[in-house]
Amino acid sequence: MSISFDSQHHFAILAALYRADEGACLEKLLPDATLPPEARRAAQARAGAWVEEIRRTHKPSATVTDLLARFGLTSQEGLALMCLAEALLRIPDRATADALIKDKLDEAHWDKALSGGSSWSINMTGWALALTGKIIKLDDDKASAGSALKHLVSRAGQPVIREAIKVAMQWMADQFVMGETIDKALQRAESAMRDGVRYSFDMLGEGARTAEDAARYLRDYEQAIDKIGAHQKAHDFPRPSGISVKLSALHPRYEMAQHDRVLGEMVSVLVALCQRAAAFDMPVTIDAEEGDRLQLSLEVGAAVIEQLPADWGGLGFAVQAYDKRAPAVIDFLAALARQNGRRIHVRLVKGAYWDTEIKRGQERGWPDFSVYTRKNNTDLAYNACARRLLGARDVINPVFGGHNAMSVAHICALAGDANGIEFQRLHGMGGELHDLMRRDGLHGCIYAPVGSHDVLLGYLVRRILENGANSSFVHRMLDKDV
Ligand code: FAD
Ligand code: 2OP
Repeated sequence: MSISFDSQHHFAILAALYRADEGACLEKLLPDATLPPEARRAAQARAGAWVEEIRRTHKPSATVTDLLARFGLTSQEGLALMCLAEALLRIPDRATADALIKDKLDEAHWDKALSGGSSWSINMTGWALALTGKIIKLDDDKASAGSALKHLVSRAGQPVIREAIKVAMQWMADQFVMGETIDKALQRAESAMRDGVRYSFDMLGEGARTAEDAARYLRDYEQAIDKIGAHQKAHDFPRPSGISVKLSALHPRYEMAQHDRVLGEMVSVLVALCQRAAAFDMPVTIDAEEGDRLQLSLEVGAAVIEQLPADWGGLGFAVQAYDKRAPAVIDFLAALARQNGRRIHVRLVKGAYWDTEIKRGQERGWPDFSVYTRKNNTDLAYNACARRLLGARDVINPVFGGHNAMSVAHICALAGDANGIEFQRLHGMGGELHDLMRRDGLHGCIYAPVGSHDVLLGYLVRRILENGANSSFVHRMLDKDV
């Protein structure tokens, strides 16, 4: 299948930006990323006020954000723990799980880890307390928390650790996942929806490995659309919710090497899904995934848009600012919308697959990466892309995803009037900031993952990395020394 939209020159620009020189990319973006000094000061003051208020009112609680803000993932032990937890979740039988624990956590390691209130023991305390249901009180005395854990471990050994980690992973998942089923998620969201909060539901599941996986994920999406639509009809909430879709869930070979097959097989699937949503006037956003899939997603999107009802402007795309191609992607999407004489929405995010992109670049021995390598550079690109997006408001409804108060304030300063702009956050993150933004009259939306624990791993690991990174805004916001 080919698409009639003349996309080739756009793809040539994208190709030229792929792994382009970082400094050269930034130099081009810098003017667009810069606010006049007065606007910059105003944005800083606004973001500063939000952060001060959050710090003043924030109560350290039993949340993953708090736990990671305090202990991070940078210690050897924290990383080992995450690797173990991540592997454990995928081991179906107990004997292998226990063998893994034994391998990773030998006696010496435990003795060292449990003495002296290291971050390892505090982390494990978090896990263990989650297990016992007493839940973390972050002011707990380190020594006594450590000894409680030691007692627990020495009494029961590996099975306890196994269960502790499983329960703790579940505890983490509960914070980032809205519900195991769409029914439960809708129920949980109902009172907020009544208050005017909008959701974009995301059916967990990505990177389908088999045709059966893809068919199952498709059914999940179809069912979710029907249920969200019926729920909206029944309640007539002021701001109807939508759905976010990961294309890698819908095809087992969603990769450039299978380009023709993917276009041939997937476009009709996505068209049908969008038509289903369009019948409820429900927006659909195509999530951005690994950079290798970017062009394929744009090609599928372009082919799909041509076949959608002419009066439906509900299709949208997420764009990752950390990818050096992002400005060209926005240009592509604006051109696509103009060509088809319809509006689309574009959600600008910084990007959640940074570690994967870096690892791939390293594995392939590339001299440069497809993404920026310093967080400040991604922030700069995000600001520049925000200006580009706002400049295309004739055809694009701009949406901004993230939890960084300074990024939000920057966008408000850029836009002047924030009417028609939507700010989105992930369920389980950024709630305090969004409450303040709402008070200031900004429109919000919550991206709400739905699914059972067997499909959440990728999503959960990305959230833990995001919350645990020293450089991340949610991490630093809670650190009063910063
Ligand atoms: P900040 O702390 O300001 O920024 C963190 C980000 O900076 C990291 O996520 C990373 O992108 C970047 N970064 C960190 N370290 C470095 C480094 N060394 N070099 C370069 N860059 C670095 N992500 C997707 O990929 N696809 C999606 O479709 C998607 N949808 C989302 C939808 C919503 C509603 C939201 C809120 C988020 C979505 N995300 C998606 C996740 C999003 O990418 C992250 O939540 C976002 O990057 C966090 O940015 P921030 O402004 O909140 O935090
Ligand atoms: C992710 O799945 C939110 O789409 C983003 O990490």
